[in-house]
Amino acid sequence: MKKNPSKYSLAFLPTPLHKLFHLSEQTGYDIYIKRDDQTGLATGGNKTRKLEFLIQEAVERGCDTVITAGAQQSNHCRQTAAAAAIAGLECHLWLNGREPEIYQGNLLLSHLMGAHLHFSGENAKGREEALAYLQAELDKTGRKTYLIPVGGSNLTGAMGYISAMAELKKQLTNIDWQPDYIFFATSSGGTQAGIHIGKMLYNVPGNLMPVLIDKEKDFTQPLEEKIVEIIRDYNEIFNKQVRIDKNEIKIVKDYNKAEYGKLTENERTAIDVLAKNEGVLLDPVYTGRAFYGMWDILQKQKIPLGSKILFWHTGGTPALFAYAGELIINI
Ligand SMILES: Cc1ncc(COP(=O)(O)O)c(C=O)c1O
Repeated sequence: MKKNPSKYSLAFLPTPLHKLFHLSEQTGYDIYIKRDDQTGLATGGNKTRKLEFLIQEAVERGCDTVITAGAQQSNHCRQTAAAAAIAGLECHLWLNGREPEIYQGNLLLSHLMGAHLHFSGENAKGREEALAYLQAELDKTGRKTYLIPVGGSNLTGAMGYISAMAELKKQLTNIDWQPDYIFFATSSGGTQAGIHIGKMLYNVPGNLMPVLIDKEKDFTQPLEEKIVEIIRDYNEIFNKQVRIDKNEIKIVKDYNKAEYGKLTENERTAIDVLAKNEGVLLDPVYTGRAFYGMWDILQKQKIPLGSKILFWHTGGTPALFAYAGELIINI
C-alpha cells in the first residue's frame, strides 16, 4: 500500500448520525445511531468505505478483475460486485457451499450486478487456498487480477474506517455530543482496526464495544492478533506510533453462542425492537447480533444509566429477505 492512498468515490458520505428517541426514552440511556447502512452502494454497508480504497488500489495497479470470497449472503461480496460494476472491473466471487436453486438477498444482488459466482460445493479447500487457485486460473486467461481479502480486512480496507472516524469526529463536534460507548459488529476485523486507529488519531471519545459475530473456532488467527497486525502495518507505512497492545483490543464475546449466520431469539429481538420503535432495519447476521448485545447490556444496566451510547449500523439489510421464512411470525 502506498503512503498517500486516494479513494475511488463509491459512497454517499457523510452517513447520517441521529438520535433514537423512543429507545432513549424507554431505556434511560441517550442513544444515537450512525447509519452506515446508508453508504449507498447497492443498499449500502460498511464494506463500501473499505472498497473505496481497495478499488482505487486495483485501478492504480492496472487490474481489470477483482476477486474475493465470502458466505452466500456476504454483504462484502455484494458490495464488491457493485463497486466493480461502477469501476468497470470484472468481479469473481468465491462463495461457500452449493449453488442454491433460487438466488435471494445478497446473492441475488451480486448476480444482478454481473458478478461471476463460483460455488465451493463440497470443495474441501480453505478460502485462502481457493482464492489463490481462482486467481491463478484467471491470470492464465490473461486477466490482471486484484485479490480482495475476505471482508476487505487489510490495512487498505481499514483506511475506510480510519477516515470514517474523522467524519464521525466532525459530526460529534457539530452536535456537541460525545459518546461514552460505541457499539458495532466485528467479524473479519478491518472495521474494528480502522475505528481503533481513527479513535487514537482523531481523539474520538468513547469506549469501543465491538460485538463478536463469529465463533472463535472459525478463525485461522485470533481476531486481536489480526487487528494488531493491521495497526502495525499502519504505523510502519505512515511512520506513526499508534499504541499496539493486544490487551487493549477489547472484544465483547458474549453474544456469539450460536453459529455464524444462525438466527436466534436474540437477533429476532433486536430486529423487532429497532424496526418497531424506530423504523430502522437491522440485518439477521451482523447488526442484529451486535444490536442485541448492546440491548442486553443496556437492559441489564451493565453500564451506568444515562450513559451516551452510539450504535454504528454497518448495513446488511438485503440478507433479511434471505431469512424471510425465519423472520415472519404469526401468519
Ligand atoms: C453488515 C456487516 N456488519 C459488520 C461486518 C463486520 O465487519 P468486519 O468484517 O470489518 O469486521 C460485516 C462484515 O461482513 C457486515 O457485512
